[in-house]
Amino acid sequence: MTTKFYLTTPIYYVNDRPHIGHAYTTILADVLARFHRQAGDEVFFLTGLDEHGQKVLQASQARGLTPQQHCDDLAPRFSQLWEKLGISNDDFIRTTQDRHKKVVQAVLRKVYEKGDIYQSEYEGWYSVAEERFITETEKESGEFRDVKMLKERNWFFRMSQYQQKLIDHINAHPQFIQPEHRKNEILGFLRQPLTDLCISRPKSRMGWGIELPFDTEYVTYVWFDALLNYLTGVGYLTEDDKFKKWWPASLHLLGKDILTTHSVYWTTMLFSLDLPLPETIFAHGWWMLGESKMSKSVGNVVNPLDLVDQFGVDPVRYYLMREMIPGQDAHFTMESFVKRFNSDLANDFGNLLNRVSGLIPKYFNAIVPEPGALTPEDQHIQTIAENLQNKVPGLIKELKVSEAIEEILQLIRAVNKYMEQQAPWKLAKENLPAAGRVLYVASEALRISALHLSPVMPAKTDTVLNVLGAKGSSPQWGGLKPGTKLGEHGALFPRIEK
Ligand code: MSP
Repeated sequence: MTTKFYLTTPIYYVNDRPHIGHAYTTILADVLARFHRQAGDEVFFLTGLDEHGQKVLQASQARGLTPQQHCDDLAPRFSQLWEKLGISNDDFIRTTQDRHKKVVQAVLRKVYEKGDIYQSEYEGWYSVAEERFITETEKESGEFRDVKMLKERNWFFRMSQYQQKLIDHINAHPQFIQPEHRKNEILGFLRQPLTDLCISRPKSRMGWGIELPFDTEYVTYVWFDALLNYLTGVGYLTEDDKFKKWWPASLHLLGKDILTTHSVYWTTMLFSLDLPLPETIFAHGWWMLGESKMSKSVGNVVNPLDLVDQFGVDPVRYYLMREMIPGQDAHFTMESFVKRFNSDLANDFGNLLNRVSGLIPKYFNAIVPEPGALTPEDQHIQTIAENLQNKVPGLIKELKVSEAIEEILQLIRAVNKYMEQQAPWKLAKENLPAAGRVLYVASEALRISALHLSPVMPAKTDTVLNVLGAKGSSPQWGGLKPGTKLGEHGALFPRIEK
């Protein structure tokens, strides 16, 4: 039986070029999507852009463009970057698309008719930077910029009435908010009475958004609009079969800064719509540069394209996946990038390929030799390789991508060590079949590690599998066929010299 797996990234604000924070979430989602496809699951992977609201409006004004021109100009920078990074998304949603506007308006009508939306005068602290009213406590925390007193007539969503239902859901579904410490934060937040959510912005103040269907003087608050992309993307209200097939989402992947909007706003919206909640909301940490979060407002962002142009796509994907433990923050440094590249990719993975593809042509006419009966040393490698099949899927299910990579690298390191001990270059002179056996075992382990690493480095592992004539083979031991002619290749990961 195939399992369906619907996963999403946040939709990114088009207020600037994409940076490494955006690239990270998208690559992580892509790696998970590829792992699931490899495991035989049917996957729908959605990403896209959040194009309404004040931040986008301000960014467009700063460039002297209309907001729509600004979005149309910047959107390709995201989609082209995703293409360049090998992102295998199934759809790319933009909230200014008609299909989305229709869904947002239909949802607003539904929720309004249900009696979950009302109008009221509200006076309170408003954070211009965060684009929302904040509580007294939040104001006192000092974490919000551009705070001012604002009095306005607005439309509100009765979020508060779903508070207990949400708490009960979180408690009954341990997988719902991940990691555990983030779930506890949300439960802590829900110990205070939940307020209703202001879901409108008067056009007189901020007109860039989707008009409320029941009051044309207002546009929809950007978060109420944006979160609904997860429904639009799978055909809510328009393509019933598609929607039935994919909803609820299996995994919403996001950064910790937007966990509250997802676990509180989004879930209560779904309650109001009588729709099931996503299975898991996973909040990852931040990429930091020094002590600060990389962000546009701090101005310390690393452009992923610069790294990619210099070192290639797969090493960047590898570094981001290996270096961050999802759930914790990670520190970006060029030193750690170079170190990972040289040790894991050049010395371990690349070196194993070079050995195999150097020795088999030299002693066996580039034909994969017959292994014959395996010795205990060979079997030890076989066991590590076979164990990966049990370990990797479990780790991926828990989003422990970094650990999964480490497991695979341990196989590669074990094979390199085995090669040194067995020294097939010496054996070849005394006992050619024994050298053939060792080279078979090493190539087979290389093939299996390349298959396991392929969701992380699709292009480079493709090269390895092509050399071994093993594209599309299964990760079971014995998939490499003796008699296969090895292909040729250039340097897989040329060492970065200082
Ligand atoms: N538009 C909203 C999301 C709406 S989802 C319905 C938004 N966009 S964003 O462009 O500001 O950020 C999107 C994502 O990028 C967030 O998950 C955020 O955590 C992530 N990152 C932005 N900077 C980051 C780092 N420095 N490190 C890791 N991820 C970070 O919020």
